[in-house]
Amino acid sequence: MADTVRILAVGDVVATAGCEKLKQTLPKLKKELNIDAVIVNGENSAQGNGMTPFSIEQLFSAGADIITGGNHSYKRREVYDTLDGAISVIRPANYTEDCPGIGYTVLDKGFVRIGVVNVLGTAFMEAVKNPLDCVDASIAALERDVKIIIVDFHAEATSEKRAFGFYVDGRVSAVFGTHTHVQTADEQILPNGTGYITDAGMTGPKQSVLGVKPEIIIERMKTNMPARFETAEGECVLEGVLFEIDKKTGRCLDVQRVNA
Ligand SMILES: [Fe+2]
Ligand SMILES: [Fe+2]
Repeated sequence: MADTVRILAVGDVVATAGCEKLKQTLPKLKKELNIDAVIVNGENSAQGNGMTPFSIEQLFSAGADIITGGNHSYKRREVYDTLDGAISVIRPANYTEDCPGIGYTVLDKGFVRIGVVNVLGTAFMEAVKNPLDCVDASIAALERDVKIIIVDFHAEATSEKRAFGFYVDGRVSAVFGTHTHVQTADEQILPNGTGYITDAGMTGPKQSVLGVKPEIIIERMKTNMPARFETAEGECVLEGVLFEIDKKTGRCLDVQRVNA
């Protein structure tokens, strides 16, 4: 039995096109890269944004083990019951206990158990509970049970994301940023052994503005009028980050960006 576990984190999957790309690409990627577990950010997986029971099903059928969310987790009411009932679909831990769903979970792969946490940033975002307090509480709840903890930090500002990484360095196995849909080139292992990337990127149409048709965004910039977003067409990319984690210590041994 291997001493390490290889965990792929996939950046925000956008709409049906992104779900289709994941279905086409993830199964062979899992084989090629010897991936043991897959965490997918699904906050934009529904057609028209947010997540729905249908889009969640698409992500699981593509091979996701855990689905994380973000500021769009609650956009579609039809997903609330799914969030309440599921242990493999989580939403940011910053929301109160009264809100549907849970902020952290444990993935049991048999040979390894992996804690997964979802936290929202607050810089240029909604004023939810303090992200550092939220991650502390989630770590405290999980560390009795698991050695490996992976955090999806869904935030806008690179400074907030990097500060968050250093804050949890040595206490979690890895942090991957999501929300900005543009993959950053700062994948690294922080001084105390936590794997880190500011943003894992996006799974969706390449010629787009964060998944949306560029002409719609340009029109909005020109006129300042509201516009209905439509998913761009054309070739899609799958972007993510692969962490190799020591099963005994929970430390990250290797981190690599993935573009497929
Ligand atoms: Fe997103
Ligand atoms: Fe987001």
